[in-house]
Amino acid sequence: MAAAFGFPLVVLLVFSLELASAFPSGAPWGQQQQQLDPHVYDRSCQQAQQIVASIVGKAHYQDPRMAASLIRLHFHDCFVKGCDASILLDSSAVVVSEKRSNPNRDSARGFEVIDEIKAALEAACPHTVSCADILALAARDSTVMTGGPGWIVPLGRRDSRDASVQGSNNDIPAPNNTLPTIITKFKLQGLDIVDLVALLGSHTIGDSRCTSFRQRLYNQTGNGLPDFTLDASYAAALRPGCPLSGGDQNLFFLDPVTPFKFDNQYYKNLLAYRGLLSSDEVLLTDSPATAELVKLYAANQDIFFQHFAQSMVKMGNISPLTGGSGEIRANCRRVNHN
Ligand code: HEM
Ligand SMILES: *[C@@H]1O[C@H](CO)[C@@H](O)[C@H](O)[C@H]1NC(C)=O
Ligand SMILES: *[C@@H]1O[C@H](CO)[C@@H](O)[C@H](O)[C@H]1NC(C)=O
Repeated sequence: MAAAFGFPLVVLLVFSLELASAFPSGAPWGQQQQQLDPHVYDRSCQQAQQIVASIVGKAHYQDPRMAASLIRLHFHDCFVKGCDASILLDSSAVVVSEKRSNPNRDSARGFEVIDEIKAALEAACPHTVSCADILALAARDSTVMTGGPGWIVPLGRRDSRDASVQGSNNDIPAPNNTLPTIITKFKLQGLDIVDLVALLGSHTIGDSRCTSFRQRLYNQTGNGLPDFTLDASYAAALRPGCPLSGGDQNLFFLDPVTPFKFDNQYYKNLLAYRGLLSSDEVLLTDSPATAELVKLYAANQDIFFQHFAQSMVKMGNISPLTGGSGEIRANCRRVNHN
């Protein structure tokens, strides 16, 4: 079965590279000693991108939610000490895993897919392709496979030798953070309001647990009332599956209209007060600047796709380890010499 979708994926990928060549790959951090470069594996592991795309394709075929989960892993990696695959480390004598943080616990998924990609890459070109680069490539391929834009992925990130569960708790925005808090957390990563609104568009696919939005259904501000910025009939439809207590892990589509299609439906939902998370809806309700972008992307999917691709490159450039820093892990779950 794998061969059946291996070929079309490679075609998609080549097509996406054409599209993306128009975009600059602007690194936000002028102080980085070394830039990432899309060609770093051209000689050392020519098959790298095809191997990633074919395993992501197989995983997507087996589980239509996986594309969303892989995009989110790259985000949760990059926001904690930069894009260094710190999120992939399991707990050990020397590591407290980020997998146990509030944003990741019972939520982050896709680790087995990354393991499978890493094993295939180690077999093809040992000690060459970093786990952090696998996350960046898998996020791009997942976007393309669900109908979103493609882009050229700058490469050459190295993998961390440690993790930060505290960074994961503090630096990744929470779904009940206020818009100013969210904007600040993005700014700390070198990301602006355009990046914020465009990147949140990936909530056009994937799922959320009840626990991530329950507060909005019952007692948003502590006055015993639901969030008035949530459409009343949508809230009523959500309540049976997300009761006041219990059902924490019950899953809901972030975009119930086209849950598996990477499109601009997310922004149309926000305009209808049908954003699932508080952190989604505040883009429309809490600042004219972000609201303008929501309206722009709802009206024009091409501009959304263009901005999303640019912002994913920007997010992927957050504080990479390069040169002699870090290592190329042999197994994405552990550092090499422990
Ligand atoms: C303000 C910033 C953000 C907040 C507060 C936020 C919050 C969340 C929450 C609460 C969930 C559901 C988790 C669960 O209940 O298990 C989620 C899912 C998701 N997020 Fe975000 N997110 C943010 C930004 C982003 C960004 C920047 C990306 C990617 C570029 C992203 C991609 C995703 C995807 C694809 C899912 C679905 C994952 C799956 O189905 O496995 N999010 N997010
Ligand atoms: C946000 O959610 C967390 C976790 O459920 C909760 O502890 C906190 O009180 C909430 N914050 C606000 C401002 O509602
Ligand atoms: C709503 O939340 C407030 C503050 O956390 C609490 O005092 C109150 O009892 C809650 N009301 C209901 C109806 O749950």
